[in-house]
Amino acid sequence: MTYLETAAEFYSEVAQTPQVGLCCVQSSPLQLPGLKIPCQMQEMNYGCGTTVHPAELVAEPTVLYVGVGGGLEALQFAYFSRRPGGVIAVEPVAAMQEAAARNLTLAAKENSWFEPSFVEIRQGDAFSLPVPDQSVDVVAQNCLFNIFEPADLTKALQEALRVLKPGGRLLMSDPIATRPIPEHLRQDERLRAMCLSGALTYEEYTQHLVDAGFGQVEIRGRRPYRLLDCQSYGLEAPLLLESLDSVSFKVPIPEDGACIFTGKTAIYTGMEEVFDDSAGHVLQRGVPAAVCDKTAAKLAVLGDILITDSTWHYDGGGCC
Ligand SMILES: C[S@@+](CC[C@H](N)C(=O)[O-])C[C@H]1O[C@@H](n2cnc3c(N)ncnc32)[C@H](O)[C@@H]1O
Repeated sequence: MTYLETAAEFYSEVAQTPQVGLCCVQSSPLQLPGLKIPCQMQEMNYGCGTTVHPAELVAEPTVLYVGVGGGLEALQFAYFSRRPGGVIAVEPVAAMQEAAARNLTLAAKENSWFEPSFVEIRQGDAFSLPVPDQSVDVVAQNCLFNIFEPADLTKALQEALRVLKPGGRLLMSDPIATRPIPEHLRQDERLRAMCLSGALTYEEYTQHLVDAGFGQVEIRGRRPYRLLDCQSYGLEAPLLLESLDSVSFKVPIPEDGACIFTGKTAIYTGMEEVFDDSAGHVLQRGVPAAVCDKTAAKLAVLGDILITDSTWHYDGGGCC
């Protein structure tokens, strides 16, 4: 049996007997005006963060959702696209497809704006998405890609890139590890399926995104996820897992490398009104400007510029 078959077996089990709190870090998922989430669907919240960022979803996007689970995020995405087939949910596990379909039928009874046809559940998997090249605006996955071995993660990311339109977005939420997870845990297929032992470090995770070809990555959230203790996991020191919410853009990688935004800002502290680095960054004295980590590192060595810490919840925002 391969680790992917072990994962499929595990998700077949938890489709038939929901495991409340399997992956999630918050009992109350994202609430939206006029959205009612059926209890059965909420019990199958197997995501470790959220991939539903309203600001990314204003233009009624076509969303491809990989690994439907109980259908909770598919429903939340349908809230924004609101049309038949607006959300295509790809799922290889038959029992999970059935559970999601059941939960979405319940959701239609509780939400007058929603029809089950708004989410089209399709057979398939992350390595072979059943849609043409450049056909969707958004690809989303929550707490699935961390299960994959690194080579398979590369394949899944390349497949996401293939189906996204130019400028399209990959919305992800996954556990990451605060130090490399020891081999004896990485080899444990059931723990991997439970999203507890496949996690990469932050650096490895973001490097995979850039290597796959995403030119811009924005970190929307980073929070504690689970603690692997010494006794239960055979560790010499406890190992903290975090969950990371990110948005990656299908845009060309700039010549000097991809832009990764983690919430840093640059503030000019010198005596002029503005600072201009002649490379596209114009800073008004005393006013923070959002910068990617690459630019932050370049500006930090110039003097008269203060770089603030990563907030880990960058949303592109400024005040004007
Ligand atoms: C941890 S659950 C997350 C479910 C959902 N994203 C959520 O947030 O509740 C992982 C989901 O991915 C599905 N899955 C497992 N292997 C997969 C694969 N190779 N490709 C696509 N989906 C897969 C599982 O059956 C399950 O529905």
